[in-house]
Amino acid sequence: MIIGVLRESPPGEARVAATPASVVELVKLGYEVVVEPGAGLAASFSDDAYLKAGAAIGDALAADIVFSINPPPVERLDRLSRGAMLISMLNPRLNPGMVEDLSRRPITALSMDAVPRISRAQSLDVLSSMANIAGYRAVVEAAHVFGRFFTGQVTAAGKVPPAKVLVAGAGVAGLAAIGTAGNLGAIVRATDPRPEVADQVRSLGGEYLAIDTADVEVSATGYAKEMSDDYNQRAARLYAQQATDVDIIITTALIPGKPAPRLITAEMVASMRPGSVIVDMAAANGGNVEGTVPGEAVVTGNGVTIIGYTDLVGRLPAQASQLHGTNLVNLMKLMTPAKDGRCVLDFEDVVQRSITVVRDGELTWPPPPVAVSAAPAATKPSAAPSTTAPAGPQEKRPALGRWRWALVGAAALFAVTALAPAALRGHLTIFALAIVIGYYVIGHVHHALHTPLMSVTNAISGIIVVGALLQLGHGGNVVTALAFVAILVASINVFGGFAVTRRMLAMFSRS
Ligand code: NAI
Repeated sequence: MIIGVLRESPPGEARVAATPASVVELVKLGYEVVVEPGAGLAASFSDDAYLKAGAAIGDALAADIVFSINPPPVERLDRLSRGAMLISMLNPRLNPGMVEDLSRRPITALSMDAVPRISRAQSLDVLSSMANIAGYRAVVEAAHVFGRFFTGQVTAAGKVPPAKVLVAGAGVAGLAAIGTAGNLGAIVRATDPRPEVADQVRSLGGEYLAIDTADVEVSATGYAKEMSDDYNQRAARLYAQQATDVDIIITTALIPGKPAPRLITAEMVASMRPGSVIVDMAAANGGNVEGTVPGEAVVTGNGVTIIGYTDLVGRLPAQASQLHGTNLVNLMKLMTPAKDGRCVLDFEDVVQRSITVVRDGELTWPPPPVAVSAAPAATKPSAAPSTTAPAGPQEKRPALGRWRWALVGAAALFAVTALAPAALRGHLTIFALAIVIGYYVIGHVHHALHTPLMSVTNAISGIIVVGALLQLGHGGNVVTALAFVAILVASINVFGGFAVTRRMLAMFSRS
């Protein structure tokens, strides 16, 4: 099949849906690729580079599968062939007119911005890759306008304090902004109604500012919900206090399908120091900041610059095209199981189902909801001890259950010990003690230290392998079988541990 890569239509759009590097991958999957003349020029990819990567330059609209970042205008849609598959960011939730138009055509349309937020789909989650770039660029834009260093310095000419940055909303864009501002040396604080992001903020070197309320938002969908009045009032107090202290505010708060929540009021902006900068990333969606002008940078009466650029991603077109192109390659890998250049749309697969807006001229939007578990089931914080009602029987049940199992285990161990020969009794006692000590030692290790812990368990597994090897062939069949099982399980632990550790170290490697 032929994949066509369109030149983007919106004026000023510098991105392109495939780069020479992603073309190489598509060709490896068995596809022919046709790129429209000049499609990648604005992102610094020449037609020659595409030709060298194995693509042809020509009429991409006639292809079987058509890639574009923005939906093509109607006159270009009219030129798609019957049975073609259009893969683009169609924004079907907010663009019902476009969905209706597409459903009247004998084509299939997939929307890359409808990828569900599940771990398996992360490699094709265009919204996340673009938000990551936007978060980075937001900091760069702020640094460009801000008249001082981000990092603190002690120089011969005097001491320079580090800039203070507040990031409101720690989703994908927010976390990217926290990491970038931190890398530039700023003191970074962040807030978000989803408490599960606190660890992520801290792991990037930021300080998580919790809103002190019982109305804690635990995300089951990967996205936040609208917050209660109580939360909003407390959050407003926090923002008001932070506005007088920080130099830069980057707002990324988003609730899908709703206008952006208003977080920073005109009074808060007025309370900031002259020279401070606000980047309102939600500008296109109504803005998190009072006074934002979408697409522009405005300076307020007290000298605060509010940046409302809506094209932050397009300001890094080569990077954005590369990540977008890789997301599309990953989608094509999913839809090309035989790697034979034939695309198969599998409706049993929840990812492919979720992004399909139209299939062969039949409207398939909206898709059935996808159960997303973005966070571990969080326990609501309990009320202060003084106000806590006496624990009812229901609250006691889990503790009772645990004790019941502990009693059953102890009774079983007692029975085995009583019946076991004297030599085995000593081993059993050591075994039981090892379980108890191991449970308490490992149970208290912080999650972040589980990888180094794995190296220790590797050492233990190594000892088990040596012990089991010595038992092989000595004693009866049962001993040999048990030794074999021990070698197998311990080896899985050793080699699995090394594999996981390697992968984790690779994630942090800069090369
Ligand atoms: P996301 O869904 O990953 O993150 C949004 C975060 O906002 C979530 O963590 C959510 O819990 C938080 N949030 C929701 N209500 C809040 C509230 N009342 N107070 C504080 N935080 C709240 O979204 P993502 O992908 O990080 O995008 C963030 C924003 O950036 C969106 O508005 C998106 O449209 C925008 N964006 C802007 C671009 C530009 O060029 N200006 C480019 C890409 C994204």
